[in-house]
Amino acid sequence: MSQRRILVTSALPYANGPIHLGHLVEYIQTDIWVRFQKLRGRRCVYVCADDTHGTAIMIRARQEGRCEEELIAEMQRAHERDFAGFDIAFDNYGSTNSPENRRFCEEIWRSLRQADLVVERSVSQLYDPQAGTFLADRFVRGTCPSCGRADQPGDSCQCGATYTPVDLVDPVSILSGAKPEIREAKHLFVQLEKLHRFLDEWTQSGDHLQPEVVNYLRGHFLHEPLRDWDISRPAPYFGFEIPDSPGNYWYVWFDAPIGYIASTQQWCDRFGEQHADWWRSDQTEIHHFIGKDITYFHTLFWPGMLHVAGFSLPAKVHIHGFLTVGGEKMSKSKGTFIRADTYLKHLNPAYLRYYYASKLGPRLDDLDLNLDEFVAKVNADLVGKVVNLASRSARFVQDLGLAAEYPDDGGLFAHAAGVGDEIAAAYQECDFNRAMRLVMELADRANPYVEAAEPWNLRKDPSKTKSLQDVCTVALNLFRQLAIYLAPVLPRLAEQTGQLLHTPIRHWDESKTPLTGVAVAAFQHMLKRVEKKDVDAMIEDSKEPEIAEPASAPQWQDSDEPLKNEPLAEMCTIEDFAKIDLRVARVVAAEDVPEAKKLLKLTVSLGGDVQRTLFAGIKEAYRPEDLVGKLAIVVANLAPRKMKFGLSEGMVTAVGPGGQEVFLLRVDEGAQPGQRVH
Ligand code: 2FM
Ligand code: ZN
Repeated sequence: MSQRRILVTSALPYANGPIHLGHLVEYIQTDIWVRFQKLRGRRCVYVCADDTHGTAIMIRARQEGRCEEELIAEMQRAHERDFAGFDIAFDNYGSTNSPENRRFCEEIWRSLRQADLVVERSVSQLYDPQAGTFLADRFVRGTCPSCGRADQPGDSCQCGATYTPVDLVDPVSILSGAKPEIREAKHLFVQLEKLHRFLDEWTQSGDHLQPEVVNYLRGHFLHEPLRDWDISRPAPYFGFEIPDSPGNYWYVWFDAPIGYIASTQQWCDRFGEQHADWWRSDQTEIHHFIGKDITYFHTLFWPGMLHVAGFSLPAKVHIHGFLTVGGEKMSKSKGTFIRADTYLKHLNPAYLRYYYASKLGPRLDDLDLNLDEFVAKVNADLVGKVVNLASRSARFVQDLGLAAEYPDDGGLFAHAAGVGDEIAAAYQECDFNRAMRLVMELADRANPYVEAAEPWNLRKDPSKTKSLQDVCTVALNLFRQLAIYLAPVLPRLAEQTGQLLHTPIRHWDESKTPLTGVAVAAFQHMLKRVEKKDVDAMIEDSKEPEIAEPASAPQWQDSDEPLKNEPLAEMCTIEDFAKIDLRVARVVAAEDVPEAKKLLKLTVSLGGDVQRTLFAGIKEAYRPEDLVGKLAIVVANLAPRKMKFGLSEGMVTAVGPGGQEVFLLRVDEGAQPGQRVH
């Protein structure tokens, strides 16, 4: 009988940067899920690769005066070392710059051509004559054609306008500082709209995507014709040249996901497996784990390409949120942009694996790494509740071994064995947070047993040796159950447990039967407490002066609806803008205006004892009690207006169409009431 197979991938990290704690959310999440499948006895293979192509690598190699191949080889070694350091166990780790990948790109390309999906169009693009290359959007800066702001990126301005780099006024190449020229180049496009019906059906039915992703795709893309996808870049470009279009290269996002297929091929070659069993078989489930910023590629282009080329479609695309540290975006200057190798210099990877597991759920919420909570949780849960069970019992039975028969434990082992199915279901659903909670609840039942039985006292009385052995047999078995349930998260702990009891942990179901009669090895320390000083040293080590980076590509492909609904206003001068006095204000009181459907009455402070009363149409969107104490931005010099309910002495600023969709303008931490908006 053929056994069902599971193929799992994580997104391929770019070869132009080091692995950091943000990346690790995904690799740890995926690795836990894969280890869980394997522990359940499923046939599961985990592949990944470095994503090596594109302009950024080409430019960096040039700047460093070496060839791209040398650069990507060095990055790959660093990536693999970091992943291994965090116990991320890929079955194969490849590269998109491989012969296998080129072959699959060619195969999929042929299918796209045969399905008549490729068209050729001429595109005007900025070209840097000094650097001798076309410029991707992020390599150009200039003045916004819409509002006149200087030094804006090539695709969008702070004012909200979006445009193409060709529209920028006074563009400058950030590669050489040269003034770019406009050059026409031939590009190849995939007409995704021709796959609209298929994509509607695939994304909107079944269980391939999380519900919020289904809605996002419908609301943002599938409700209108899908745009053609620009799939080629003219030379010079580091990538694969398109066989039937010399001088043109596949855009990095074409060959990157094909890297999943190519890495699987390498694994098949190593183990004598048939590739078709993994990518063209309904006996194989394919699971992709990705971050929400690359949803578009993995849920529209990728299924489209697979469908056309006759490969299996993903059973599920699991999408996670971003990492914040202390509630904020990672920052180099604050030392919260923490590289994997820096972390490993100071801390044990098990801490982070457990902490992430305890915070990861099945949805797309961002995950916050709160360093105080990190220390407290690891110490309380892993050291205080789990490892403690072993450290307080193992050494007392080092000579005795476990009892030949499992003693009466008041039902503790049987109960924990029963909870195993629930824990497994939580892992399966990627609800690791729930799985960790269930495990810790079991630890909370086991610890009082040991405390009440006091093995440290029993061992003082030679007539109680049997009781001592029984108590320790129970404690070590309850500990081993926890180690099995935690094995996907803490593989090293599972291994140490196997050594301690001379019985390696190989299968989830080993949690159902207690171990008896085995020898107990000398107890080795399993996990030290996290020390706050080590965390502080890691942060210190991560601090770098922040270099202003050009704004990166938008994380979500935002809709153009709002701008269409309300086109930009006529240009104004800085003097016009200065007439409006916008100030930071603190809401000191907020109350309902019962007679008005939409209004709340706000009293705001501009600092000292300067206060204003104003009426805001935000009742459907905000509860008064949630506003008190918050900072807002108000128009402070608006002529007072007499309203039915009193005098309105200003206006609070907000965006949105109205009703429940009103969003107040906020200001970052540190701003003070009375400060002016410039
Ligand atoms: O966003 C990224 O980091 C890309 N390198 C992910 C590629 S995933 C897959 F498509 F290859
Ligand atoms: Zn602008």
